[in-house]
Amino acid sequence: MCGIVGYVGPQTPGSRPLEVVMGGLARLEYRGYDSAGVALVTPHGLVSAKKAGKLANLVAELDREPLPAATAAIGHTRWATHGAPTDRNAHPHLSADQRVAVIHNGIIENFVQLRAELTESGVQLLSDTDTEVVAHLLARAYDGDLTTAMRTVARRLHGTFTLLAVHADAPDTVVGTRHDSPLVVGLGEGENFLGSDVAAFIAHTREAMELGQDQVVTLTPSSVEIVDFDGNPIAPKRYTVDWDASAAEKGGFRSFMDKEIHDQPHAVADTLLGRLDPAGRLVLDEIRVDEAVLRQIDKIIVVACGTAAYAGQVAKYAIEHWCRIPVEVELAHEFRYRDPIVNGKTLVVAVSQSGETMDTLMAVRHAREQGATVLAIVNTHGSTIPRESDAVLYTHAGPEVAVASTKAFLAQITAAYLLGLYLAQLRGTKFPDEIAEILDDLREIPDKIQEVLDAAGPVRHAAVEMKDVPSVLFLGRHVGFPVAMEGALKLKEIAYIHAEGFAAGELKHGPIALIEEGQPVFIIVPSPHGRDSLHSKVVSNIQEIRARGARTLVVAEEGDLDVLPFADRVFFVPRTASLLAPLLAVVPLQIFACELAAAKGLDVDQPRNLAKSVTVE
Ligand code: M6R
Repeated sequence: MCGIVGYVGPQTPGSRPLEVVMGGLARLEYRGYDSAGVALVTPHGLVSAKKAGKLANLVAELDREPLPAATAAIGHTRWATHGAPTDRNAHPHLSADQRVAVIHNGIIENFVQLRAELTESGVQLLSDTDTEVVAHLLARAYDGDLTTAMRTVARRLHGTFTLLAVHADAPDTVVGTRHDSPLVVGLGEGENFLGSDVAAFIAHTREAMELGQDQVVTLTPSSVEIVDFDGNPIAPKRYTVDWDASAAEKGGFRSFMDKEIHDQPHAVADTLLGRLDPAGRLVLDEIRVDEAVLRQIDKIIVVACGTAAYAGQVAKYAIEHWCRIPVEVELAHEFRYRDPIVNGKTLVVAVSQSGETMDTLMAVRHAREQGATVLAIVNTHGSTIPRESDAVLYTHAGPEVAVASTKAFLAQITAAYLLGLYLAQLRGTKFPDEIAEILDDLREIPDKIQEVLDAAGPVRHAAVEMKDVPSVLFLGRHVGFPVAMEGALKLKEIAYIHAEGFAAGELKHGPIALIEEGQPVFIIVPSPHGRDSLHSKVVSNIQEIRARGARTLVVAEEGDLDVLPFADRVFFVPRTASLLAPLLAVVPLQIFACELAAAKGLDVDQPRNLAKSVTVE
């Protein structure tokens, strides 16, 4: 996710604006990015520098061509969403008259219409980004007051955005705004700061102000003024940051994993964003595969590893149900060695957070050699798997730093569901109103994840209490089965506890022999409102293991009183459609693993023997 820094200081031009902004960008590197840039307000107008790749490339550029002394600056690290990670697409973007510079975090959903409007009026756009339109719109709206121009433009934007802008005529001003994307103000002495999080300025001040939704902030060296989009003044909320600089990089969370678990409402919401047209139809423009090819697909094979493979297993239930196409889910490293039956009518879906997992890449190559169409569901722009696939559907989870995957999992399921619904729409296996209803349910998921996060106290407590257990089992049925396996994987990875996930129906065929007095077992219970009496079958499973001494930790739907007599602990999650339930049920399992590993004093983010992305076979 993009990093944003803004600075305004003494009106005697100097080198501090650039130093502050470059230092802030370095502290925001953890967010992950693929290009970086700065713009400075100097007595001679705006100057900027931007480079694809790491910050070191920008530093080298600035060494080669130093920028003049300035009074204000903005800086940006970009995580590409619209347009490849190139110098040209890097931020800042300048207006055609070079008087306005803009940086942006988020996605402007209506940028296509705004681009068309600008092009028609004779503006030549120089990048492929959604952001550049804002620079041109601000220049057009500017009438001597950048704040008013920002209010005018912000009201026209759909999507999510944090925007910072500077104007050549206002050397003492930086203006920022936000909608569904964070922006924090840092308060200095004779200077002020803006950042996408406090890491951007924590080296200079711990005095901060949060900017509310749909507000515009105007910074000068000696003042901070906040108004809403209608221009009404807002009383600022000031606070003192009590993190040290390194914790601030994790947004105040103890670990990246904890932070990323809490990022999940955004990961799902952002993955859904911009993929519907005004009539509510799914538009997956990224899927540049001929619709005729997709109509004649007779089999889907999902190839992936680890958590991404579990996301594929969840998606299998939904895609088969919605599209009536058989879906196989194959561990990527097994796929090409078993001589799979793949041909021109096969759609291979490669799921990967990093887009660099070698096993998955090899499966992609093999599938294409066999004539299959390959579609990648990937989080990392510019990575190899999407480059080598026929099409890509990006998840918008933002950078995932912790080795244990959490928010990418939820974003992968969300993207795979979008793909399933798109195929159902295309092939007519679902009526439009049925698809619309599922999309409505999906849109409610981010708030429901937040409810699970807000009610996580009992899960954390149980994790601390169980930090010394040698083994934990996980049971689930239907979509709860891959959730059980994912819960077990999390615990193995970061807490080094033996853990296994089983299909609950398999219990009597073997695993029940493992149950002895005190054995902790998580059970993912399906909704009592679902079909096929699955709920009562799983409740029977709980009774069977409880009767044999198991300590039962039950994840159930809010209001499911049937589980209470048999649960040592119950963690309720909000009600949703059965097929969407994994997006909620997995969250307590992630929190359990994260908390338990922390209670054991382990390195939650960098577990032993594991790398974030496995680039060897
Ligand atoms: O980058 P990818 O999604 O392709 O990575 C796949 C697996 O290596 C990954 O999910 C791994 O299992 C995680 N450590 C799970 O938390």
